[in-house]
Amino acid sequence: MNLVIATRNAHKLEEIHAIFDFRGLEVCSAFDFPHIPDVVEDGETLEANAVKKAVEIARATGCWSMADDSGLEVAALGGAPGVYSARYAGEPCSYADNNAKLLRELAGRSDRTARFRTVIALSDPAGNARTVQGCCAGQIIEAPRGTNGFGYDPLFVPEGHALTFAELPAEEKNRISHRARALHAAHAAWAPLLRP
Ligand code: IMP
Repeated sequence: MNLVIATRNAHKLEEIHAIFDFRGLEVCSAFDFPHIPDVVEDGETLEANAVKKAVEIARATGCWSMADDSGLEVAALGGAPGVYSARYAGEPCSYADNNAKLLRELAGRSDRTARFRTVIALSDPAGNARTVQGCCAGQIIEAPRGTNGFGYDPLFVPEGHALTFAELPAEEKNRISHRARALHAAHAAWAPLLRP
């Protein structure tokens, strides 16, 4: 049985392979289907985008497909940037631009609680999809720290830790992250479906 991970983000693929036990499956990614155009992520929720990506890639390849969509949800900003996390500072923008905007929006706010949330969707070749999610709660600090990871990692200190995601070793981030938790939930829920 073939499973296509619906992403062309090498960083994400690395994290997924570090966590998900794909034994017995032929796993490939959107990198292996260069002729398939990128899926437009225009959903209004993480769920909508994850389902759209999984379903479009499953239908285009004739394989099962797994897709994820993640975002940072900041309590004092009503859950923003959320589904708009990648393009918070406008389009195109860098991770540094997004981090700078987040710090501007939170200036003077005492509530700096936030969570990362990942939704993973799995679609069969006919386009029937289901989802699971994983969250990681924490705090947004006042200035970036650390060089590991990507995105908002330098500003996010996960609950129970003193270091940011960008200061923690990758193995520790992969143990507690929203994506890790969603992948564990995916494995628990879908391993029987994905058994060859
Ligand atoms: P994606 O859906 O996984 O591509 O995530 C969308 C955006 O959310 C990314 O461009 C990042 O800005 C942010 N994001 C998602 N996951 C993480 C993470 O693990 N660390 C930091 N930022 C993240």
